[in-house]
Amino acid sequence: MKNILITGGAGFIGSHLVKLFVKKYTNYRIINLDKLTYAGNLQNLKSVENLSNYVFIKGDICDKVLVEKIFKDYSIDSVIHLAAESHVDRSITNPFDFAQTNVMGTLTLLNQAKISWAIDGFKDKLFYHISTDEVYGSLGKTGYFLEDTPYDPKSPYSASKASSDHFVRAYGNTFNLPTIITNCSNNYGPNQFPEKLIPLFINNIMNNKPLPIYGKGLNIRDWLYVKDHAIAIDLVFHKGKLNETYNIGGFNEWTNIDLIKVICATMDKKLNRKTGTSEKLITFVKDRAGHDMRYAIDSTKLFEELGWKPSLQFEEGIEKTIDWYFNNKDWMDNIVNGDYQDYYDKQYNIK
Ligand code: NAD
Ligand code: DAU
Repeated sequence: MKNILITGGAGFIGSHLVKLFVKKYTNYRIINLDKLTYAGNLQNLKSVENLSNYVFIKGDICDKVLVEKIFKDYSIDSVIHLAAESHVDRSITNPFDFAQTNVMGTLTLLNQAKISWAIDGFKDKLFYHISTDEVYGSLGKTGYFLEDTPYDPKSPYSASKASSDHFVRAYGNTFNLPTIITNCSNNYGPNQFPEKLIPLFINNIMNNKPLPIYGKGLNIRDWLYVKDHAIAIDLVFHKGKLNETYNIGGFNEWTNIDLIKVICATMDKKLNRKTGTSEKLITFVKDRAGHDMRYAIDSTKLFEELGWKPSLQFEEGIEKTIDWYFNNKDWMDNIVNGDYQDYYDKQYNIK
């Protein structure tokens, strides 16, 4: 039996990955370490919580004693590390939390992996770090992020992720820790916390609340359906070359304003509202500080080496996503009735 430590498995991407691995690989034991911050939600994992090859541990990746105990108790042989503070806006108001979890937490895991795995010369071990395209900075109108694009992080979030990537490579180089890093573009899909653009806007349209678009809405993101990201992680985990980096992206660029118009039109149809009703909720608000203009990933390496490409067209993915939020109003209500609504209403001065 392989013992895989997945961190952040109660979050958005982590929960899709945990479900995929627990169900697909019954010969693996999946140990999910998650602190259950505001972004972690055990409701996301209902379908696997009672399966015998799944273990949940509530705890902090920065807790050295706990991390050491988990490596020993479960004879961990691989780590897939997703736990992070992930929201750019929060990193602007509270950068210290990002340095703590994203940098110190990653370092804590790396160091324990080094100590535990050096004993048998790192045989069959892997530290797989999940990172973001934001480490590469911001693109102009043309070009793509490639695996060798120089790092140029511009927000406290991306600076903390870039720093964690550097630590991962440093442990590979200095201590021979077997590592892989993937840098992915914007994910969307079920179970995403409604502070991120797509679930926030779906929820606000349902509730006739304003849709706050930062600046002029011309910033561009490259969107990938979350399950396609999980499939890519599965592939890289099993077939990726050690000490390599792979970019993962959708070749699917949208300006925020065009994306929102698609969501508004789809929501009008589903809510049987007159065309144009949801668009009236669009409100242009003050731009995000240091707002990156454009992200676009070139994932040719992953396609050529491992044969991965996104399985879903965007139109299909966004339809599935909207349907999921419609069919899971209790999931959204549980979050919105928690402390999140307060954070959001204060941010936009909503009465
Ligand atoms: P998320 O915010 O939805 O989930 C993060 C999870 O980590 C939560 O369950 C939270 O409870 C947990 N966590 C936070 N701090 C912790 C700590 N100190 N100890 C243990 N657990 C902790 O994030 P996400 O969107 O699912 O992103 C997951 C990973 O993928 C992150 O590393 C992020 O940088 C990366 N990523 C995200 C995207 C995206 O579009 N969402 C794209 C590329 C890369
Ligand atoms: O590129 C990968 C990254 O994508 C991940 O590493 C991050 O964890 C993830 O949060 C995401 O970062 P973004 O900042 O791109 O995502 P967000 O959903 O916050 O914003 C998407 C775009 O929409 C961005 O240009 C800002 C804009 N936006 C966002 C919000 C929340 C708005 O215009 N209004 C909003 O209310």
